[in-house]
Formats: sequence, C-alpha cells, structure tokens
Amino acid sequence: MIFSSPRVRSTPEMPCTRDLFLVACLPAIITLLCYVCSRILKRPFPRTLSKDESPLEQIRSILQPPGAPISQLLIERSTANQRISLALGLTNTFVNPDPQLHADFVQHSRGLLRGVQTNGWTRFQQTCAQAVQSTLEDWPDSDQQCNIPFDRFVQIVVLRTILVGLLNVGKDVEELDYSSLAIVTALINDLWTLSKSGALLPSDLQQQLRDHLRRLIPISAGFENPIDFVVPTWETMWRVCATTIARIEASTDYQSFFHDFLQTDSLEARQFAVVGSQGFSVRDFVQEVMRLHPPVKRISRVHTLSPLNSWVSTAFGALDHIQLWLYGAGTKGIEDVRSSADVEAALRTETIWSGDAHAFNPRRHQSVSSQMKDIQQVVFGYGRLRCVAATWAPDAAAVISATIMEEVGESGLELHRGAKIGGRNGWDGWSLVGRA
Ligand code: HEM
Repeated sequence: MIFSSPRVRSTPEMPCTRDLFLVACLPAIITLLCYVCSRILKRPFPRTLSKDESPLEQIRSILQPPGAPISQLLIERSTANQRISLALGLTNTFVNPDPQLHADFVQHSRGLLRGVQTNGWTRFQQTCAQAVQSTLEDWPDSDQQCNIPFDRFVQIVVLRTILVGLLNVGKDVEELDYSSLAIVTALINDLWTLSKSGALLPSDLQQQLRDHLRRLIPISAGFENPIDFVVPTWETMWRVCATTIARIEASTDYQSFFHDFLQTDSLEARQFAVVGSQGFSVRDFVQEVMRLHPPVKRISRVHTLSPLNSWVSTAFGALDHIQLWLYGAGTKGIEDVRSSADVEAALRTETIWSGDAHAFNPRRHQSVSSQMKDIQQVVFGYGRLRCVAATWAPDAAAVISATIMEEVGESGLELHRGAKIGGRNGWDGWSLVGRA
C-alpha cells in the first residue's frame, strides 16, 4: 500500500489573493524602482505631460525640471540642437554641454550687453540709421525704381547693426562688405530651413558661410567661431524687427507713435516705458509683437539614456519596457526622448489672454495679470538657461524697427504689404518701393 503523504491542497482563494496583491502592489513597486533608478542617475523620468498641468507648468517642467543640475540641463539642450549645430557649424553652449563653456559664453555675452548699454541708446540708434543708409546705397540697382524684398533688407540692416553696435567687431557700418552680408544672411536662413526639413546639406555651404563671416568679423574682434555669436544675437532679432515693422505699418497711429519716439536728441531708457495717448508704450508694443509672433515658438529638450542608464535598465530587467508602459507610448523610444516647451501655444491660450488672444492689442500689457506676466517671460526661455538679453533685446528691437521705418521713409521709399506676416520665411509680396 502506498501511503501518500498528506498534501496541502491549495484553496481556490490563495492564488486569487496573490494575484490581487500583485495587481495592487506591482505598479507601486515598479514606480518606486524607476524613481530610485532615476534619482541615482540624476535624470527625470521620460514623461508625457499631464493634462492637468497649466501651459506654464508644462513649459517649466521641461526647461527646468525640479532639482535638475545645470550639467543635465546643458546635455538636454545640446542633444536637442544637434541638427542645427551640424547645419551651421555651431560650437557654442547651445550645442556643447560643457559647463565651463557655458559659463564663458554667458560671461562673454553679458560683457557685450554691458558694452552696448554703456554706449547708450542714442549711439545704438545712430549705428542703426547708418546701417539703413549704407544698405540702401549698397543695394544693387538702388538708383533705379527699386523693389527691395523687405525680409532681405531687414536681415542685412539688423546684421550690420548687431555686428557694429553689439558685437563691436571693430569696423564701421559702411566698412562691412555688402556681398558678404548678403551671403551670410541668406546662407544662415537657407541652412536653418534645410536642417529643419531633414534634407541633405550641400557640404560647401558651411565653408562659404565661415569664409564670409570671417570677412565681416576679423580675428582681432575676439570671436573664435563667429557663427557662435551671430546666430543667438541676429537670428531672432531680425525676425522680431521685421514683425514689429509689419505691425507698425498697419496703422497711421502706430506709425506716428514710433516716429515721435525717435524725435529726441538723446534717447533714454525711460522713454521705452512712456505711455502715449493711445494707451501703450513702445515696450508694450514690442511685448505684444513677441507674444503674438514669438521668434522661438518651441524650445526642445532631449533626455538620452547614457550607457550607465542602459546597463541599469538591463540589470533591472526590461526597465525600458516598464517605463514605456508606465509613461505611455508618446515617447519616441527610451533612448531618445524629445519634449518641446510650446511657447507659442502658451502665449495664445484664450483662458489666459481672454477671447481676443489671437488679436494684436498692445494696450493689454498695461493691465496684465501676474499669470500673463509669467507667461510673457517664457518668450526668452525659463530657468537657468534663460536668455541673458531678455531685458535689452525688446528695447533694441523697438529702436531698430523705428529707425528702419524713419530712414526708409526719408529716402523716399514705402513699404508694400504682402498677404500675411512671415517668420523666418513667408514674406512674399512684402517690399520697399519708390513712392509714386
Ligand atoms: C529678441 C531676441 C531674442 C530672443 C527671442 C532670444 C531668445 C532666447 C531663448 C528662448 C533662449 C533660451 C534657449 C533655451 O533654453 O534653449 C535664449 C538663450 C540665450 N540668449 Fe537669447 N534671445 C534673443 C536675443 C539675444 C541676444 C541679443 C543675445 C546676445 C547677448 C542673446 C544671448 C543669449 C544667450 C547667451 C543665451 C543662453 C543663456 C544660457 O545658456 O544660460 N539672446 N535666447
């Protein structure tokens, strides 16, 4: 007789309890595990944005995740900018995460801004007026009944003004070679547009860009790789100026307001905030231009897993898949997660800016809420990598725009409008033509 040992028969409830335990606790354990790993590696989870977060909270959590060290912010920015870096041959802090390089670049930029502020607004305005005159004189066929493409004209005037007025390259405005100015502005725009389209970049264009920049900016000016300073200072400025002029031109009231702004022997900082009879200041006007047409619409970051992260992922068993399961398939892949701070959307949200959020209204800046004020600031980014020129640049754009309008008018030209206000491209139909 075979005696079987008494067998403990599992009751049907037991697996069920275990299942319940697993279902209830496993996500919590996995979440804890992911959290611990991410803290060890000092990087946030790849995350999809919560619908409950306000547009401003979303922007802040992308550009300045809580507790993120500067080294992480620099890596996330430079990784996101790789394509444009390759296209233009950039080597600055926007594309290189070295913290020392960042500190040096920011210090150099602050020094340039201190210099232009010490020289004063009157001198800056005179530089700009000379830039307009030289550009009109240099323009091919300018003595005939000209038809000058507006965007090309603003690009060249702003580059001249920035090179002499801000970067202080050691040349006068009229000494800057016109053909190099024309080639540099066109190439930066074309290379930028091409890099966004993902198309192959013709290899000789970058060398041409470097050569012509060197003709404009001699080695003695102290810029090792001139494009590193030209892009952050010029690329956004010309577009703000072009859109500001397009908005001024839309109304004779706006035109006379900006004309009056320049009617002074000495342009002082306080004049930017003087509110005219129409209920806004020139600073309000540019703020509104930048709200409705932010030159940087989205600011991207990329979180990338380092080899150490990957090793930990493997060691913890398919952590990648678990994270994807937990945080959604919105991420492109755990190795390379791109998030974009949607600046443009935040600046046009009707629940914040009211029903006329899509209309141009410079008066709104006289009575903005603290929430609107905070959102307006993200035009220049947020957190530790925010633009160092956030205070200077809008006032400089006001001076450049007013001066272009003034000088163009005095030289007998007028601005013809196109169908819509452009951005980096899209200025078809906009031109300066001789007054009939
Ligand atoms: C209207 C014109 C301008 C706009 C809209 C603008 C916008 C921005 C934005 C959005 C950022 C943050 C980028 C990011 O977080 O990835 C930034 C950074 C920066 N901008 Fe500007 N910018 C303008 C003009 C200038 C000018 C004239 C200078 C020259 C001094 C300048 C120097 C810088 C520097 C050095 C940084 C990097 C700051 C850091 O890494 O800590 N910007 N800018």
